[in-house]
Amino acid sequence: MNRLEGKVALVTGATQGIGRGIAELFATEGATVVATDVRHPEVYAERIAFAFLDVTDEQQWAEVVGEIDARHGRLDVLVNNAGIIGYSPLDTLTSEEWESVIGVDQMGVWLGMRAVIPVMRRQGGGSLINMSSAWGVIGGEGAHAYAAAKGAVRSMTRNAAVTYAGDNIRANAVVPGWIHTPLTDAQPRHLIKRIETFFGRQPDYEKLRSRGQLELASYLSPVMEETFRGRGHWNNAPMHRVLMSLFANAPAIW
Ligand SMILES: NC(=O)c1ccc[n+]([C@@H]2O[C@H](COP(=O)([O-])OP(=O)(O)OC[C@H]3O[C@@H](n4cnc5c(N)ncnc54)[C@H](O)[C@@H]3O)[C@@H](O)[C@H]2O)c1
Repeated sequence: MNRLEGKVALVTGATQGIGRGIAELFATEGATVVATDVRHPEVYAERIAFAFLDVTDEQQWAEVVGEIDARHGRLDVLVNNAGIIGYSPLDTLTSEEWESVIGVDQMGVWLGMRAVIPVMRRQGGGSLINMSSAWGVIGGEGAHAYAAAKGAVRSMTRNAAVTYAGDNIRANAVVPGWIHTPLTDAQPRHLIKRIETFFGRQPDYEKLRSRGQLELASYLSPVMEETFRGRGHWNNAPMHRVLMSLFANAPAIW
């Protein structure tokens, strides 16, 4: 379809899972993609270059964005996708888990937006896409640091959208559907059971991926938050009804 022809995109956490799917989709749509991660990938498709980037390291952000700018003269899309999860509820959460999850999932998003905004402003616009989570919208169970970070990502995204609207820089948060990737491998059994009562059986990322990029991408973009708010269920509907109404609006592929 080439909807991203001529665009340059940077995707974080793109060695596997959702980030890899986004990088591949963007490349299919004609973008030049710089896929970054702390782990080296298997081979990527054409149009995808790899750069090492730990999103918690501001020096590495400066270097990677500087290199993209020097090589391509622009950077149109940043996808802040890298994420980690810890499942501890707040009473057993350690400071170490808190700092590491907040570092990657929240601070990493801020550092990324901060690094690319000067380039986007100079070229007259750009698009910031930040991965939030249902845990940042409806609360979720356990995973306290993750819920805190993903909630913060939503407000940071709104703040960025308002602050940089005059620079023609858009900011959006995406709330992916529940999908089996390496990130969710460590989910406690009891939590999986409870999530399944709301979301149904967890679909497998690799299986969706093999069925086609567009199908995968449409699943990953149910625009959960907007539907949630738009339908006015924010405060008082039973959670299962809210969740079902959200998925009624999402592509039915599982
Ligand atoms: N899978 C789901 O059901 C789901 C649901 C809601 C939100 N999300 C969010 O979507 C994003 C991607 O999740 P996923 O399921 O594909 O996870 P994943 O574990 O498969 O991929 C995450 C990637 O981030 C990378 N990463 C970790 N720490 C990093 C760091 N410091 N710097 C750079 N990269 C780092 C990992 O190496 C990995 O490649 C995450 O932000 C996650 O919170 C996932």
